[in-house]
Amino acid sequence: MDNVFRYQEGELFCEDVAVRDIAKQVGTPFFLYSSFAFCSRLNDYVKAFSDHPHLVCFAVKSNSNLAVLNLMANQGTGADIVSGGELFRALRSGFPAERIVYSGVGKTVPEIREAIAAGILMFNVESMQELEEISRQAMLLGKRARISFRVNPDVNPQTHPYISTGLRKNKFGMPVDMALEAYKIAKGMDGIDIIGIDCHIGSQLTDLSPFVDALERVKSLLVDLDSLGIRLDYIDIGGGLGIRYHEESAPSPGEYVRAILDHMDGLRHKIIIEPGRSIAGNAGILVTSVINIKDTGTKRFVIVDAAMNDLARPSLYEAYHAIHPVCMEGNAAQVAVDIVGPICESGDFLARDRLLPRVKKGDLLSVFSAGAYGFTMSSNYNSRPRAAEVMVRGKEFAVVRARETYDDLIKGEKIPDWTCKGS
Ligand code: LLP
Repeated sequence: MDNVFRYQEGELFCEDVAVRDIAKQVGTPFFLYSSFAFCSRLNDYVKAFSDHPHLVCFAVKSNSNLAVLNLMANQGTGADIVSGGELFRALRSGFPAERIVYSGVGKTVPEIREAIAAGILMFNVESMQELEEISRQAMLLGKRARISFRVNPDVNPQTHPYISTGLRKNKFGMPVDMALEAYKIAKGMDGIDIIGIDCHIGSQLTDLSPFVDALERVKSLLVDLDSLGIRLDYIDIGGGLGIRYHEESAPSPGEYVRAILDHMDGLRHKIIIEPGRSIAGNAGILVTSVINIKDTGTKRFVIVDAAMNDLARPSLYEAYHAIHPVCMEGNAAQVAVDIVGPICESGDFLARDRLLPRVKKGDLLSVFSAGAYGFTMSSNYNSRPRAAEVMVRGKEFAVVRARETYDDLIKGEKIPDWTCKGS
């Protein structure tokens, strides 16, 4: 997968297509995805499970483009969703409902109803209030809802605080010591079928031990549940495996799955995982053009046509994304620059104090590792139409989401009559 985006005689290719050729036809900025990269990362997961029962549920929040989802659905994966909108996308792109799991701390009544009506595999339930609502809605619809409880194992995932979820102080899940009681209550509830247990401890984890610690806590709960006569079919261990953005070294999907299987102690529960970033992250880049170079004497700014509205991660988490010219010239000298967008905020940057070969107006730059939490976190801030999305397969490419137009920007907006009537 590492060489899906590669330089050939100084020019960046995605699979067999020159990125420059796509830019010529599509304009910039655009997200560019390699279908091969998506499939190969997914296969790494699937292969590693071998004959252990499993379901890989792609985390839709990481990349929810219909073409990406369809690619995943066609490989037999499931989907991990967190909203009615994601349910809509997942169904529309071809995931069968029975391969969809619904996570999230605040599911609304209409969302719960839509998911029950669709017949999803299970809800990952975060609180007793939510459980009661799911039960009520299931009965109103004359159906039963399958659930697992999302427990909060209170392990430190050692990641950015904004994307850490498995600590007791986080809003997610149910404390392990309350879970047993929750299962007991759920067992007696009409409209509810208990089928699993779930946890998700955080994102961009580059060490396997927190996953194993979380699994150990889940396993000890299984023993207690067993003694209550509650037997589960599924253990959902969430997503969270990290990727290499810069110098970090992340375990491979295979190493991750093997670590989990090594600690199953012969248990044959079906394992659900919810990977997003580790499949999508390095399967996509963001391509942008240089608008201007601005030298203030103290700093050199490379102003590009992608901004924090397109890729929020640098501004939001001070995340590092590698950035290189799409066309590299020989031994061009490197200079330290800030790569910034046109948005009216000093927090609008893609990179700061970054060494970059000298570039000029019109040059194309590639922002790497932008396939996950790139487009899905983009916005229209500063009334900027959102970028196009393009997918490559071998020698072909397709625009899988058109660049937004000005009309898209004002879709649904209306000036009420009364503003025109005067006073
Ligand atoms: N399952 C649940 C319940 C989650 O909350 C998440 C991510 C995942 C699965 C997928 O995690 P992954 O495998 O992608 O790490 N916007 C942040 C990441 C937020 C992740 C939120 N939850 C970023 O750009 O780094």
